[in-house]
Amino acid sequence: MPLNHRIVLDNRPQGEATAQNFKMIELPLPELKDGEVLVCHHYLSLDPYMRGRMNESKSYAQPQALGEVMIGGTVGEVVDSRHPKFKAGDQVVGMGGWQEFSVVDANVIGALRKVDTTHVPLSHYLGAVGMPGVTAWYGLVKIIAPKAGETVTVSAASGAVGSAYGALAKARGCRVVGIAGGKDKCEYVVKELGFDACIDYKEHKDYLSLSKALRQACPNGIDGHFENVGGMVLDAVMLRTNAFARIAVCGMIAGYDGAPLPMANPALILVNRMKIEGFIVSEHMEVWPEALQELGTLVGTGKLRPRESVAQGLAAAPEAFLGLLKGKNFGKQLVKLV
Ligand SMILES: NC(=O)c1ccc[n+]([C@@H]2O[C@H](COP(=O)([O-])OP(=O)(O)OC[C@H]3O[C@@H](n4cnc5c(N)ncnc54)[C@H](OP(=O)(O)O)[C@@H]3O)[C@@H](O)[C@H]2O)c1
Repeated sequence: MPLNHRIVLDNRPQGEATAQNFKMIELPLPELKDGEVLVCHHYLSLDPYMRGRMNESKSYAQPQALGEVMIGGTVGEVVDSRHPKFKAGDQVVGMGGWQEFSVVDANVIGALRKVDTTHVPLSHYLGAVGMPGVTAWYGLVKIIAPKAGETVTVSAASGAVGSAYGALAKARGCRVVGIAGGKDKCEYVVKELGFDACIDYKEHKDYLSLSKALRQACPNGIDGHFENVGGMVLDAVMLRTNAFARIAVCGMIAGYDGAPLPMANPALILVNRMKIEGFIVSEHMEVWPEALQELGTLVGTGKLRPRESVAQGLAAAPEAFLGLLKGKNFGKQLVKLV
C-alpha cells in the first residue's frame, strides 16, 4: 500500500490564520473493508468556510478537530473498490479532505457521487457544478427569487459563487451588477462572465463613495443582492436598495478573522421593508439535483465559463488557502494533486 500524505490542523489561529496552523503528515493506507472505496484525489477544493471551522467557537457546524485531516471537497478517481456500485476508473466527487487518497464508506448516503466528465471538466464539480454553484443557485432562486428585468447584485463577483450567480441571474433576464476587487477581476466579470457592469470596491475609500458608483451602475435601484463579503460593500448596497428588496446572506468573508462588521444603516431594513435571509447550502440538499442540472447545462453549453486558480501539490494548500482569504485567488481556488 502506498503512503498517504495529508494536512492536519495542528493548532487554532489567534486572529489571522497562518501556515503554522497546519502540519503535513504521512500514513500508510489501510486495507479496504467491505463497502469501502479507495479514491485517488485529483483536485482538492479550498473554500472560505474552512476558516470558520478552524476556530473552536460555536457555529452551524462542528469545529475542525485538531490533529485530523482538514475537511474539504475532492474530485478524483476510484483506484480500488469493495463496493458493488463503484469500480476502478470511476470519476467521483466526495469530501476526501486535504490528502492524496481517501478511503470512503460508500454505503453512507452522499459520501461519494459518480460524475460524468463528457461535457464538464472534472475540476468544475468542485466549483460551478458543485457546492459553490448550488450556493449561488439557492440564494438567487429561493431567497432573492428575481423577476425578469429586476436588478440584482453580488459581491466577490469573480469568485466561485459569484461567477455562477451571474450566469444564473442572466438566464432569468435580470440586470446583473458585480462588485469585485481590482480592475482585472472587474474586466473578467463583464467581458467573460457577461455581467452588465462590475464595480471595483478597492477604488472607493468608503461606503458612500462605493454607493455612488452603484447608483450609476444600477439606475433603477437594487431589487436583490447576494452578500459574500459584508462590511463596506453591504453598507453601500443597502443604500441603493428598492422597497421590498431581498438580500441573501451567504458569506461575510471580511470578518472571518474575527473583526466585528457593524452595519452602517440598519434602519433601511425597515424603511425599505427588506427581506434579509442567511442560509447554509448543505441544509438544503433537496435543491441540489435541480440546481446541478441547470449549472451543468450552463457550463456544458459554454454560457458559464468559470475561471480557476490552481495551486500545484498538496504542500501548496495552506498558502493557497491563506491567499483565498485575502482575495489572491481569481476564480475557484483548487489544489491539483495528480
Ligand atoms: N452559506 C453557504 O452555504 C456558503 C457556501 C459556499 C460559500 N459561501 C461563502 O460565499 C463566499 C464566496 O465563496 P467562494 O468560494 O466563491 O470564494 P471566492 O469568491 O472564490 O473567493 C473569496 C473572495 O472573497 C473576496 N474577499 C476576500 N476578503 C475580502 C475582504 N476583506 N473584502 C472584500 N472581499 C474579500 C475576494 O474577492 P475580491 O478580490 O473580489 O475581493 C476573494 O477572491 C464566501 O463568503 C463563502 O464563505 C457560503
